[in-house]
Amino acid sequence: MKKNMDYLHWKKRNDKKLTMLTCYDYPTAILQDKAGLDVIFVGDSLGTNELGYEHEISVTLDDIIHHLKAVRRGVKEAYLLADMPYKTYEDPEMALLTAKELVLNGADGVKLEGMREDVISHLYSNGIEVWGHLGYTPQLHNKAVVQGKTFDSAKFLLNGAIALQTAGASMIVLELIPEELGKVITEKLSIPTIGIGAGRFTDGQVLIVQDMLGITPFDLRHSKNYGNLGQIMLKAFQSYSNEVENGEFPQIGNVRNMKDEERDKLLN
Ligand code: KIV
Ligand code: NA
Repeated sequence: MKKNMDYLHWKKRNDKKLTMLTCYDYPTAILQDKAGLDVIFVGDSLGTNELGYEHEISVTLDDIIHHLKAVRRGVKEAYLLADMPYKTYEDPEMALLTAKELVLNGADGVKLEGMREDVISHLYSNGIEVWGHLGYTPQLHNKAVVQGKTFDSAKFLLNGAIALQTAGASMIVLELIPEELGKVITEKLSIPTIGIGAGRFTDGQVLIVQDMLGITPFDLRHSKNYGNLGQIMLKAFQSYSNEVENGEFPQIGNVRNMKDEERDKLLN
């Protein structure tokens, strides 16, 4: 079954948790889709996690589209979300062009950061499913600091989340906020919330795929390591390298041979 926005909202209304992971390539997309993830997300975390950039703000629309197209080829059932990169939604018209481009290249919906009711309402009225993103937002903050720890800043974020919903946001991502605030926002909104470092009570969770697979060396409090793929990959690369160097690979079983008479002509 193809998971659309109605399904994601149905999950919230029925107290079922939503599952989401970032994804930047075709083989990972196939596996995540097969595993039954609700949302597969080409985030601008692409820059730091996949492309080796220093910061998310270096990610271009072309970068996102290149990876979105690969992921699209692997996703059959999950909802496919794409991030709007830095400076691609400066005003509502620019935002609509960006969003249309992402939808044209396979996104079911788009996500953007910050209190941008102007942009969200314009995309909404043009039929685009748009996700908000509040709390720590990498395009707008340059350090990963927990947001909304004081009453005033928490109230500001709660009001902001309500304003984004009113403007037409279909979903909202909450990043690095105290659990108490994640719970209050989730209870006050009718649209689903997806948390990353936002506690246990958001409607769903998202993690960066390299973090949860243990490909990256980071040990992040908000994340959990579901496998030491980094160690497994490193061992595989070392074994391969050693075996090629000492002649253990390839073996007779890995090779193809010519027919005897063809070989004899070649050798004579
Ligand atoms: O780009 C990204 O991975 C994100 C998530 C952290 C929500 O925006
Ligand atoms: Na992002």
